[in-house]
Amino acid sequence: MSFNKKSKLEEIKKHYKDYTHTYLEVVNSAIQSHRSANEELMLNYYFNTMGIKSGMKLLDAGCGICGPAIHFAKKADIKIDAINLSDTQIEITKEKIKNSKLENKINALCGDYHSLKKYYQENSFDIVYFLESYGHCLNHKQLLASAVSVLKRGGLLYIKDYFKKDLAEMKQVNRLAKLMNKKYAYNLPCLYNTMSILRKLNMEIIKIGKPEFEDDGGIMSAEFSDKSNLKLFKEGEEMFSYADIFEIIVRKT
Ligand SMILES: C[S@@+](CC[C@H](N)C(=O)[O-])C[C@H]1O[C@@H](n2cnc3c(N)ncnc32)[C@H](O)[C@@H]1O
Repeated sequence: MSFNKKSKLEEIKKHYKDYTHTYLEVVNSAIQSHRSANEELMLNYYFNTMGIKSGMKLLDAGCGICGPAIHFAKKADIKIDAINLSDTQIEITKEKIKNSKLENKINALCGDYHSLKKYYQENSFDIVYFLESYGHCLNHKQLLASAVSVLKRGGLLYIKDYFKKDLAEMKQVNRLAKLMNKKYAYNLPCLYNTMSILRKLNMEIIKIGKPEFEDDGGIMSAEFSDKSNLKLFKEGEEMFSYADIFEIIVRKT
């Protein structure tokens, strides 16, 4: 691993060590910025859109405190492996899984999702999902190849995240993307680069589009940036939309 990647991973860990408690003051259990006012509605949307069914084996890549995984495991007879770089969050996750009596359904571990083959068997998952976790990725080719390798043939890869906008004013987009990356230990991805990698991995495209649930208009995200002081816009500065939210659904052929 390069020195640069190692230090970037440390920045991500630090972000969640410093801010997990603030995130949890604002959200119920899913640490996502683009969200519905009613968290259950959003999680049910993911459940239905991914087509989660009893008997399936899922991988939650970048699981937060397993808010989504716990919700899914309560709704169907499934097994979920969950991986998270943040030891702070894994500690909370283990407690939550135990309190929900879901130890036989969810197995959470602390690790780096860029190297999934190190932790999991190849061709073993029906669904691999990234819920606002892909945006932290430091090597998209490595991560996507790694996710595809652990998917079964016919299995689904689901990514929901922010992607950098393409506008005439790219200078402004790039400035804000850089600021967001710094404040949130992010690495705002490019849609075309992501799709190009997935196509080279022979993935069949099922959908690229906006998630089809009503969002809260950014209320909770604004509440978090107020509480944490991680604001991107100064007092009185006009807001500028520099990223789009997409869900990408592809199938392993
Ligand atoms: C915005 S949170 C989303 C959490 C979760 N998916 C949810 O919906 O509640 C991003 C998550 O990705 C995790 N993450 C970031 N980089 C990672 C990596 N290299 N390996 C594993 N997890 C990672 C973070 O620790 C954090 O839990």
